Amino acid sequence: MTLQLQIPKKFEVGKGCDADRSLGDLLLRTEMSTKANTSRLPKEYVGLSEDVLVRRIGEAKAKLGTKLVILGHHYQRDEIIRWADFRGDSFKLARHAASHPEADSIVFCGVHFMAETADILAAPHQRVILPNLSAGCSMADMAPTEDVLQCWDELQAMEGVTGKVIPVTYMNSTAALKAFCGANGGIVCTSSNAAAVAKWAFQRGQKVLFFPDQHLGRNTGLKMGYILDDMLVWDPFQPLGGNSREAYRKAAFILWKGHCSVHKRFTVDQVKEARKRVPNVKILVHPECEHEVVDIADAVGSTEYIIKTVTDSPPGSAWAVGTEINLVKRLAQEQPDKLIFCLDPVICPCSTMYRIHPAYLAWVLEALVRGEVVNEIKVDDEVARWAKVALERMLATT
Ligand code: 13P
Ligand code: SF4
Repeated sequence: MTLQLQIPKKFEVGKGCDADRSLGDLLLRTEMSTKANTSRLPKEYVGLSEDVLVRRIGEAKAKLGTKLVILGHHYQRDEIIRWADFRGDSFKLARHAASHPEADSIVFCGVHFMAETADILAAPHQRVILPNLSAGCSMADMAPTEDVLQCWDELQAMEGVTGKVIPVTYMNSTAALKAFCGANGGIVCTSSNAAAVAKWAFQRGQKVLFFPDQHLGRNTGLKMGYILDDMLVWDPFQPLGGNSREAYRKAAFILWKGHCSVHKRFTVDQVKEARKRVPNVKILVHPECEHEVVDIADAVGSTEYIIKTVTDSPPGSAWAVGTEINLVKRLAQEQPDKLIFCLDPVICPCSTMYRIHPAYLAWVLEALVRGEVVNEIKVDDEVARWAKVALERMLATT
């Protein structure tokens, strides 16, 4: 049965959003207009038509066979996801990387921190390639190592706080921050296991220092039964993070002042508007959203949880989803018997994920066919060793 459901005009996705332009798109032109990126993508790949790119990617992929595995994060555009041998969230993809030893080359269509994690977990003979090196993550960038180290030193020097803090970092962080956590008795978490990981941390210390997403940290604390007064935010741009020593002595959660620019866009007003316009709609959001939104949503969970929840729902269900637009659009296309739309009527994609354009994929694959490796992500051995400690603690916990 195919349900003919009309998406109310107000919820049409992508209005005024560059993601709606087709393959010869804005992003590539934007990238090409900046000097740094012009030097990365060889000229011969600029301006190729969609048909040519599809043919060349297909041919290169076929030649590389099982020596290649292409991983695609759920937030990637359709023109990339069609080539992925595996789709997943950041953690699931990192595990896929480690479980395909027959592949020498792992082409990670995601963002930088994901490729780093894949490199840390991959076997020594495997190399991880990020098609466009400028595909970073603004949230991960909000916790630079120098600021993290300064915060740690100041907390360790604080009477009543010294020795009581366990650092916990979200998977969406640099390898350096994961290594910092590993070397300081800390651990990594994902959006699906953050509460279990925080419980692990509270068994070993009295305070959790949570990086880099304050919202995931706050939502996790609230889910565990803590109240807002148990938490404070460390602002790296303020002396002593912007709080008094007494406040740190009392706090259970010290949340790094970082956020995801995609998930921060969802608001309480959008939830109210969706409920007003679509009777029986269920609001389903990612825990990177602000807690006011999470509090009034019907369900909250990781990217994989969102996919499973929508997929398991009966035909005719209506879902307003608070997460990245490429995933929401794909869910809507693949499940036409349900009404699935983005909570934000004008949302744009994760702009850094979007930097993986098919032209970059064609470039790195054709280079591999010639025996050349371009855009390899290689984490320093010592950093990788400590990051792995933090990742393995997580794996043993959940
Ligand atoms: P997951 O892939 O772990 O759900 O994280 C969401 C996200 O923001 C990815 O960058
Ligand atoms: Fe980073 Fe948010 Fe994009 Fe994920 S969706 S890569 S957390 S900016």
